[in-house]
Order: sequence, then C-alpha cells, then structure tokens
Amino acid sequence: METIISTNIEDAADWLRKDEVIGMPTETVYGLAGNALHEDAVLKIYLAKGRPRFNPLIVHVPDMVQAEKFITRFPEPLRHLAEKCWPGSLTILLPKNNRIPDLVTAGNSKVGLRVPSHPVTLQLLHMLSFPLAAPSANPFGYVSPTTAQHVMKGLGGKIPFVLDGGPCAVGLESTIVDFDKEHQRVLIRRVGGIGQQQIEQILGQKVKLELDSSRHPVAPGQLKSHYATRLPLYIGELSELNLAHRAVRRLLLGWGSIEEILMEAAVDDAGIAAEAWSLSESKNLNEVAKNLFSFMRKADESGFDVILAPRFPDQDIGKAINDRLAKASHQNKAWLP
Ligand code: TXA
Ligand code: MG
Repeated sequence: METIISTNIEDAADWLRKDEVIGMPTETVYGLAGNALHEDAVLKIYLAKGRPRFNPLIVHVPDMVQAEKFITRFPEPLRHLAEKCWPGSLTILLPKNNRIPDLVTAGNSKVGLRVPSHPVTLQLLHMLSFPLAAPSANPFGYVSPTTAQHVMKGLGGKIPFVLDGGPCAVGLESTIVDFDKEHQRVLIRRVGGIGQQQIEQILGQKVKLELDSSRHPVAPGQLKSHYATRLPLYIGELSELNLAHRAVRRLLLGWGSIEEILMEAAVDDAGIAAEAWSLSESKNLNEVAKNLFSFMRKADESGFDVILAPRFPDQDIGKAINDRLAKASHQNKAWLP
C-alpha cells in the first residue's frame, strides 16, 4: 500500500470516515488513529501496530461534552482534573458505556479518554462525528514517533495516510490517571506529559503513583520493557557506565554542553572514542522530553554499539523521562515478547 504524508486535514478526515487508519499528530506523540466506534477500524489499528489485543487503546475526543457521551460516570476529582488539564497531555480512565466497543478497551470496563491540545488534532476531531482510538503510531515495542517521518519509517506501507502536524511539542506520552472508588482517591497509572505535582496542586491533595508492572497490568504501557531502542541502552551514573563500556563505541546522552557531558562521564582520550549528544543545552527538562525519542531513534541509526544515559532529576516531566529511559534500558529487554 502506498502511504501519503500530507498536511491536508480534509483528506485525513476522509480516510477516517472510510474506516481506514492513519498517522495523526498530537502534542505528546503521533497516534495511529481510527474510528473508535467501528470495530473494523479498531481491528486495523491492532493489526498495523502488531499490538496484542489485551492492550487497550486511548480514545481521543474534541471536548468535555463529547467525552460525557461515552461514559456512565465522571467522578468529581477526575472531572476537576479534566476541566483544568483538557485539552492536554492527560488521559483519564472512566467507566465506559456500550457505545465504546469492548475491543477498544480490551474488555476493561473503563475507557481511557483524552482531549489532545495539538490544534491540528483538535480541528480534525471537531470535523468528525466520531471519536478516534489511537495508540502511539510505532510498531509494538519500539520508540514512540514524534514526527510524521518517524511514523512513515515504522508504518509506511501499512497505512494509507500520515497527517503531518510537525514535531510534537511535548514529546512523551500523556499521563494516565484512574480513580480508586473504594478509597476515593486518584491514582497515576502512567507518568507522562503532566507532572504529579501539577495534578496534586489542582486536586489540593496527594495522589498515589500506582504504576502497574505486573503480568496483567491495568495500563500495559506499564509493561517493564517498552519504548526500546534496538541498540542496548544503559541508564545510570555516566562515569560508571562509560568505564564499564570503554571497549565499545559509546553514545553518551545528557544535557548541558557537550563538554559538560564528556566531563561528567570522565571520557578521556584512551580507549575507543565516545561521542556525546545534548538533549538540552540549557538544561531544560521539557526540552529533554521533546528531544528524547527522536534522539533515541537517531542513535539507533548512527553506528554506535551502546547508548549510555544518566538519570534526570525526578521532578515534573523528569519522572516520565526517567520512566521511558528505564523501560528502554537493556536490563529490561528480557521482558519483550
Ligand atoms: O499521549 C498519548 O497517550 C498517546 C497519544 C497518541 O494520545 N497515546 C498513547 O497510546 O501513548 P498507547 O496505546 O501507546 O499507550 C496507552 C496506554 C497503554 O499502556 C494502554 O494499556 C493504556 O494506555 N490504556 C488505554 N486504554 C486503557 C484502558 N481502558 N484501561 C487501562 N489502560 C488503558
Ligand atoms: Mg505506546
């Protein structure tokens, strides 16, 4: 199948109305979108992505009013979060009604809903009379795409169309929140674009991080190995990692100037040369997040033997950065199917 990359939103809408699946920009990562209300379209998503059917899909809606049409309840704290964070990088798990096919939620009684903030995505959603199911538009297990070209690389030939909305501004997937009815509290199921502190500030109370990495995860994005580069990636103290891998060609990821990264890693001229790439010269965590996946992809194509990365400060989006690095790390690859 020929895959077209285009900025034409009308064409994107036409493909979707014909129950085809397309690459679609959002502010977090690109999604692989199809009509969430038609099982035919949803099935095509699972097939194109090579995703196991037990892993549910997020449903994208244009606004709060549309969200209400697919659920039976909107617990108050979650409604409050939606009012403050939508449109934005927050996915909310809510009890679904029967308009949402079980195939979308993989049998879960809750559906993950999100109003994305990318203007192109919003415009597309407003043009359609149905919501869009969309996982990240990468083949199962690989790094999520943050440009239309990334989508082409992974899924070109398998889908007819990629809507190009430029590089994603956030660069990491949305934060997923859930509500524990029994204890009447909000849970974070996946760390992402919106930080825990921000959520707690909005709610005026602490929330529980319940990142489920068990065999039957509530949100399988929590499977330990995910977002993996093909090259082995190690995360930890750069100087220790550099020493341990000095016999091979290393790519050091970090932030600040290249000199700073090389210094932190204690790279000297002996041994095989190492190269450093800065995810943010100005040490801005949001910029690190925005660049992370495209740097991981570039690294995979650049002829190194290993990727070495530090742990970033565990605050705000830094938590999500560390989470994605840990999931991509070599130590976790044994978890891949
Ligand atoms: O930022 C994002 O969330 C992107 C963009 C495209 O919106 N989407 C995304 O989708 O990251 P995906 O499928 O790659 O990751 C969604 C995660 C998965 O771990 C999935 O298991 C979980 O959300 N999830 C989706 N619906 C769920 C549900 N009904 N119950 C529990 N977990 C759910
Ligand atoms: Mg994904």
